[in-house]
Amino acid sequence: MTRYTYYTGTGSTSGPVALPPPPPWRTLGRSTLSEVFQPPKGLVDAVNAALCLRRPLLITGPPGSGKSTVIEQVAAELGLGRVLRWTVTSRSTLGDALYRYDALGRIHAQRLHQELTRTQPDRDPQVVDDIAAFIHLGPLGTALLPAPQPRALLIDEIDKADLDLPGDLLDVLERGTYRIVELVREGREYADVMQWDTDDTARVAGGRVQCTEFPFIVMTSNGEQELPPPFLRRCVRYEIPAPTTDLIGRIVRAHLGIDIESKPTAELIERFVARVTAKERVAVDQLLGTLHLLRGIPETNTRERHRVEELLMKALGGA
Ligand SMILES: Nc1ncnc2c1ncn2[C@@H]1O[C@H](COP(=O)(O)OP(=O)(O)O)[C@@H](O)[C@H]1O
Ligand SMILES: [Mg+2]
Repeated sequence: MTRYTYYTGTGSTSGPVALPPPPPWRTLGRSTLSEVFQPPKGLVDAVNAALCLRRPLLITGPPGSGKSTVIEQVAAELGLGRVLRWTVTSRSTLGDALYRYDALGRIHAQRLHQELTRTQPDRDPQVVDDIAAFIHLGPLGTALLPAPQPRALLIDEIDKADLDLPGDLLDVLERGTYRIVELVREGREYADVMQWDTDDTARVAGGRVQCTEFPFIVMTSNGEQELPPPFLRRCVRYEIPAPTTDLIGRIVRAHLGIDIESKPTAELIERFVARVTAKERVAVDQLLGTLHLLRGIPETNTRERHRVEELLMKALGGA
């Protein structure tokens, strides 16, 4: 590769490197995803149904098909604020998604306070032990805070969850309420607890949180595990369809602003669509990366262009 050779493998030092600008989707601090997202067929109806019915939208589809990006566009269009993200793993629990009580941290702070008042007698003894400082709301707990607008919550890769999690979620999602038992036990009238993903606190009265607007929830699944029917029944379900040449063309144009009619680009898109249709696991971001690098290589240099494509367009094994 000529245009993109920075590392040579010779070990000879050439001084500080000046890399080319990153592709738009890898530019730090600049998220244009909500603007460039191109909804596949049927998605707009599914989102609107979920919004009107106040039901979660469950999106299934292969990796890289845009599942986690849908909510960014909905939240941006509807002014729902920053998206709360909960990435589910096999260790995720409903409790952690609602809130965490850092009991150890509190004990440690109490000890430290006692120690300091002993060694520094003129220290302000009024500093009280405040349980609220040790309660951190999780993404779901934050999404259920009372607010004039619904919050947008992404529950990403719900199919990776422990078998019990979807069932546990049902009750909270039905009623939009939960209790912070540590606060209820202390009989606190109100407490200012930490929210997820920001330094802001939220005032919780009587240890109970009750949403005023159901959050707009998108759950995603790669279909690794069947979800229980009672859970599915309460969701609006949408499966990302196999991509068409038209959709991939629109995605490429939106991200890269290149001419998708040009022969090499059109052919690459065709090859991509044919592979996906044949159930090969190649993702759109691989195609975007390939086209980004190919921009720097002349059309006549077919050997180098082929090497880039071979490197970046490998089918995914698992994931
Ligand atoms: N319909 C689409 N419109 C625009 N970009 C897309 C679309 N689908 C996928 N992408 C691109 O692919 C990337 C991966 O999408 P992502 O939402 O993470 O997929 P998934 O969650 O299904 O694995 C996104 O960052 C985006 O650049
Ligand atoms: Mg995803």
